Amino acid sequence: MSNQSEVFWQDYAVSRFDRTALLNQEPLVLWFTGLSGAGKTTLANCLAKRLYDCGYATYVLDGDNLRHGLNRDLDFSVAARHENVRRMAEVAGLMYDAGLITLAACISPFEAERAFARSLVPVGKFIEVFVDTPLALCEQRDNKGLYRRARAGEIVNFTGIDSPFERPQDPEIIINTTGRSPTDCIETIMDYLSSHRLVSVTGQDRRDENRLQA
Ligand code: ADX
Repeated sequence: MSNQSEVFWQDYAVSRFDRTALLNQEPLVLWFTGLSGAGKTTLANCLAKRLYDCGYATYVLDGDNLRHGLNRDLDFSVAARHENVRRMAEVAGLMYDAGLITLAACISPFEAERAFARSLVPVGKFIEVFVDTPLALCEQRDNKGLYRRARAGEIVNFTGIDSPFERPQDPEIIINTTGRSPTDCIETIMDYLSSHRLVSVTGQDRRDENRLQA
């Protein structure tokens, strides 16, 4: 670890506000938390496409995908999950600073790390989306076959089985995906974003507006 007293903060010539003006959008972090198989990645992807179609610049950060690169040195022990989520939070903070609507999807089972992620962006710009699909349904879906392996004892420290998930205390949005399609679920999020004036113009209008400004 570097000695912080020997490391200096460098200012940049182009600020977040410059980038925000250029992109003509309000950057945000949408943080999807929930059990494996709850639908976090599906909803993040679906929402990213919906926002993209409306002319917004987005980026999805997915727990599984980051574990193929940046976080490939981390396992699923409590300490490694803390570090995994800390890195995800830092990257989400950088993406926010870059001006993007950032959609982070990771189990993030501990309240403390989610609070840390929240602390990295201004108040009101961090939207915690608790994908509150019951364990029984996640296990029934078992789209990766991991619950079956965890129940068989082939995988240890599996969230919801032999590793804890701390339910979010005060998320902005709660979505139980039971019996609902992804497109239906993301409209709940779009409604939240538009009613809080975090996204404004939707559809072709915004693309036309961006073109006119270019
Ligand atoms: S987190 O707990 O550290 O936030 P993260 O979202 O990055 O987890 O990764 C979770 C994904 O890793 C799951 O969707 C699943 O595909 C896979 N995985 C492998 N082992 C485990 C485990 N022991 N617990 C939970 N997920 C696991």
